[in-house]
Amino acid sequence: EISTRDWSSDVCSSDLWDRLDEPAQRAFAAHLEAVNWPLLAEMQRLVAGDAHVSASALDLADAVTPRCLRLGDQSNPIPPAAAVRRGGEALAAGTVGAILVAGGQGTRLGCQGPKGLCSVGPVSKASLFEVLFGKLVAVRRRYGRDVPLAIMTSSATDADTRRFLDEHACCGLAPERVFVFRQDDLPALDAADGRLLLDGPGHLAVAPDGHGGMLVALSQSGGLDWFGAQGVEHVVSFQVDNPLAMPLAAEFLGYHLLAAAEFSTQVIRKVDPAERVGVVVASRGRHGVAEYSDLPAPLAAERLPDGRLRFHAGSIAVHAFTKAFLDRVAARDDALPLHRAFKVVPCLDAAGNRVVPAAPNAIKFERFIFDLMPLADRVCVVEIDASAGFAPLKNPAGSAGDAPEHVHAAVVNHARRLLAKAGVRVAEGVDVELAADRIIDETDIKALLPAGTVLESPVVVGG
Ligand code: UTP
Repeated sequence: EISTRDWSSDVCSSDLWDRLDEPAQRAFAAHLEAVNWPLLAEMQRLVAGDAHVSASALDLADAVTPRCLRLGDQSNPIPPAAAVRRGGEALAAGTVGAILVAGGQGTRLGCQGPKGLCSVGPVSKASLFEVLFGKLVAVRRRYGRDVPLAIMTSSATDADTRRFLDEHACCGLAPERVFVFRQDDLPALDAADGRLLLDGPGHLAVAPDGHGGMLVALSQSGGLDWFGAQGVEHVVSFQVDNPLAMPLAAEFLGYHLLAAAEFSTQVIRKVDPAERVGVVVASRGRHGVAEYSDLPAPLAAERLPDGRLRFHAGSIAVHAFTKAFLDRVAARDDALPLHRAFKVVPCLDAAGNRVVPAAPNAIKFERFIFDLMPLADRVCVVEIDASAGFAPLKNPAGSAGDAPEHVHAAVVNHARRLLAKAGVRVAEGVDVELAADRIIDETDIKALLPAGTVLESPVVVGG
């Protein structure tokens, strides 16, 4: 039976209902019944209110950049060699799992389907999925144990991601060690009055609930228990758009473990106030991430006496958590606040015509993983070189930054640097790539190519 609830005050147009035939009315009613109405009420309050409301909101006025360990830095309080050893032990013991968040719509890039399908291999043309899954294969090769991988998809990416995994035999990962789970959608609301929008007859305009949707979705899908059943005690998380991501670097894991941190995170040195990365800050004994859009320009530009930016720990969304921490925060229903984003959302107007507004017309809501940081009792921040671990694909070709050509150059440059460390020279202007499933660092290259080798033409080393 079709619900008798009066939807007309919540949905943007009234007589559109009558234009639907009965099966369509039933489908629409079911769609509406599935909306989380108490949450919708909270979202509607946010349309009118602050940009986002967080119980753990950080006070930036007295915030500082926390002490960061640096990858490979002998002056770290924890020696790098000890960290490499400890991280390697955890990988060899099979106590580390991984979460790849791959539910984003990739609107800036304008890709059709999951961003993970985009090609990023300068020579191999391998996709982001192939490169990132390959890294787990390389870890298994070196340490002898699988890293259980949970992949978060969304309504926008689920079917294509599952098809890709089937067609590519999980890129060499053991299928029983791969767990695909889907995050929720949230409705987009009319920015003017907070009402629901329709993106078609009988269909609400919705969008994935942000990478922070990972927490609830992982727990409700049984993913946390799945990790537990495999003996996972620590979980790394990383994003699908960064082919250089190194969430399983033994040294990073070693710092996380030896610092007995609940939450560890990788950062890059922010040198220009205009760089569009959030920053890790510490305030009153808690750590958190301030988004670049939340950092007032004068604070973003402030410098320390030694010339560094006051807020220089740029967040790259590569984290490690204890499984116990994830279990603890997943049990709370207030762990992650909602953030608002003012966006263009195509929708039906009052007459039922589909319009693509010229200016942002809607509020989309998202939760962010990094908002878990203030809930952690011990946080470890590890600075890495951006050139070694961060090349996100965000924008279409021809953009000023984070476009395919920048990613391509970053992947080639990273390969050239590791090859040089292994004593291998690459001729000027030649594209080279390292096979993700074989090469973690220069030791793997040394096992394949004698020092003094010169590469004269494009090649995938280890491929
Ligand atoms: P971004 O915030 O860059 O979003 O995602 P996006 O969808 O890739 O691109 P735009 O903003 O629409 O242009 C950073 C990471 O978080 C994941 C993405 O897949 C990417 O790995 N993500 C984002 C999710 O898993 N779910 C979401 O709802 C949003």
